[in-house]
Amino acid sequence: MNIILLGPPGAGKGTQAQRLVEKHGMRQLSTGDMLRAAVKAGTPTGLEAKAVMERGELVSDAIVSALIGDELDAMGPEAGAIFDGYPRTEAQAESLDSILEARDRKLDHVIELDVNEDALVERITGRFTCATCGKGYHDTFEKPHVEGTCDKCGGHEFKRRPDDNAETVRTRMAEYRAKTAPILPVYEARGIVSKVDGMADMDDVTAAIEAILAR
Ligand code: AP5
Ligand code: MG
Repeated sequence: MNIILLGPPGAGKGTQAQRLVEKHGMRQLSTGDMLRAAVKAGTPTGLEAKAVMERGELVSDAIVSALIGDELDAMGPEAGAIFDGYPRTEAQAESLDSILEARDRKLDHVIELDVNEDALVERITGRFTCATCGKGYHDTFEKPHVEGTCDKCGGHEFKRRPDDNAETVRTRMAEYRAKTAPILPVYEARGIVSKVDGMADMDDVTAAIEAILAR
């Protein structure tokens, strides 16, 4: 199965993708995570992407589509793919069609996380992750069970994203509205979009997604 999780910054794409990975052994293809890894490693892609990401703008279509193609090739044909943060423009949506077709994959569901943008700034500015295993947390909504210790790997170091400040979040939201939201009608016309209430509790969001996948 191949699915897209679509929604603005902080909608819960990464949170829900991690849960699907754990439960179904699907693979999470997050272009944001891939770009952050490239920035950290100092690759040419990372050098090009760093300043763009810090401003909250979109990295070029060619770069992210190449990352997605490479990642699909690396994971082999059996595992299902969860596209998290990709596609984000009409050009990327067209590229994804060709990328999937060339690998005999088809898109099963586009799950739109429907959220109230005003609440997202709090979600994003409170977010942190384990520096060792990447598990996501939140200052208010999802704290580690033992303060300072990762539930998943026992690590003690945590980190925050440089683009998770109120000003950059506003640019990221504007980019979503201008360039990403317009791709929804393309998928609606194919009858594969399901809307989920992304403001519900995390577990309820997960249950709603599971119900869609079980259809
Ligand atoms: P990316 O990493 O994709 O960031 P984003 O789209 O801005 O989304 P986030 O990761 O911020 O949010 P999320 O929906 O994953 O929310 P999360 O689950 O963490 O992209 C970053 C940058 O990279 C872009 O700005 C761009 O520059 C570049 N880029 C990436 N892909 C690109 C592409 N395809 N093309 C061009 N450029 C690209 O949840 C947020 C917080 O809320 C967490 O703390 C979580 O615990 C909490 N939370 C989640 N769900 C709930 C809930 N139901 N209730 C309460 N709290 C919740
Ligand atoms: Mg994310």
